[in-house]
Amino acid sequence: DKRSFRHFMLKEIHEQPETAALWVARHLPEVVEGEATPLVALPLAAEVFEGVERIQILACGTSRHAAQVGAYLLEQLAGIPTSVFYASEFRYAPPPLSPHTLTIGVTQSGETADTLAALAMEQERRRLVADPAYRPRLLGITNRAESSLARMVDHIFDIGAGIEVGVAATKTFLGQLLAFYGLSLAFAERRVGQRQGGVSSGRSREELKALVAQLRQLPQQLEALVADHDQRCASLAHRFEGTQDVIFLGRGINYPIALEGALKLKEISYIHAEGYPAGEMKHGPIALLDAKVPVVSIAMPGAVFDKVLSNAQEAKARDAQLIGVAPECPDAELFDVLLPVPAVDELLSPLLTVIPMQLLSYHIAAHRGLDVDQPRNLAKSVTVE
Ligand code: F6R
Repeated sequence: DKRSFRHFMLKEIHEQPETAALWVARHLPEVVEGEATPLVALPLAAEVFEGVERIQILACGTSRHAAQVGAYLLEQLAGIPTSVFYASEFRYAPPPLSPHTLTIGVTQSGETADTLAALAMEQERRRLVADPAYRPRLLGITNRAESSLARMVDHIFDIGAGIEVGVAATKTFLGQLLAFYGLSLAFAERRVGQRQGGVSSGRSREELKALVAQLRQLPQQLEALVADHDQRCASLAHRFEGTQDVIFLGRGINYPIALEGALKLKEISYIHAEGYPAGEMKHGPIALLDAKVPVVSIAMPGAVFDKVLSNAQEAKARDAQLIGVAPECPDAELFDVLLPVPAVDELLSPLLTVIPMQLLSYHIAAHRGLDVDQPRNLAKSVTVE
């Protein structure tokens, strides 16, 4: 039932404040004065966390983009070396086995053949090693607790986003991101104060508490953001009538969000789009730019803010039409169009910057009169390799 929405995709985008509210209610325990409450409560056995020295994540498509944000968090927040693989590549060229490794498979459907096959291969090759340091430890992150994935892994994190009908993943992507925030906070909390090779890994407890406090604001922030960007993106869509290519730029933790913005646009509008780490533009892709190629630049305050703004300048100097996904800007002249996102801790910004990505591609495709919920050549579960 689409209720009053024109498409399921739009309905599911609007359900994200609820996805976030459920996550907060389930996983952020109320702090009771004087009692030692954990920062996050996850329904996962201690075995997922204990003695883990390395993490590898296998996924496809949008789920892989969530994994890339997750890897950033696991490394920067919890100090755990983490690698992300395309499941379809991992299977045929896995890296040499490493000890004390947690393998995470991310798939909203729990049925993606590439992801399941890669996980099965990893489980099998680790079972053949006698040394217990190499034993398989598999965690699945999914929206389908009854799926094939759930039957094959030892531990499952159910993102509980509710049924998603639109082929383009939206609320399940947010759910996957939130699963990684929970996981990396849980790892970080366990590792507070631990030192490796003389340097402290991860964040202090105070820093983690401040992040959790900000995460509690997420449902309200999303509520406001979805309503605002729905209107802004709807009135922007006509500008893309003749557009054939769009470039998405982001850096750091927002680089995967640029990739996700480009994938969403390709999938449902059939417009060619590419996401790049903004600093890489000058190494080739900048040759593509002219007045006909809009550039979406995700520029959120933090470690790379100034760099991203100067990368956006470079694009503007090539006459590109610049769309900024940024806070109400000191540099108001820079962007032709601003899709404003409130300034939050940089580590949390992907949870907000993804909203304009989803709504921009939705409205561009809907304006073109396309079948947004059932794009050509795509299926909700890709069960062939
Ligand atoms: C994106 C999309 C695909 C899927 C990919 C993986 O909107 O629909 O890129 O993300 O096929 O699907 P799951 O998460 O089910 O493994």
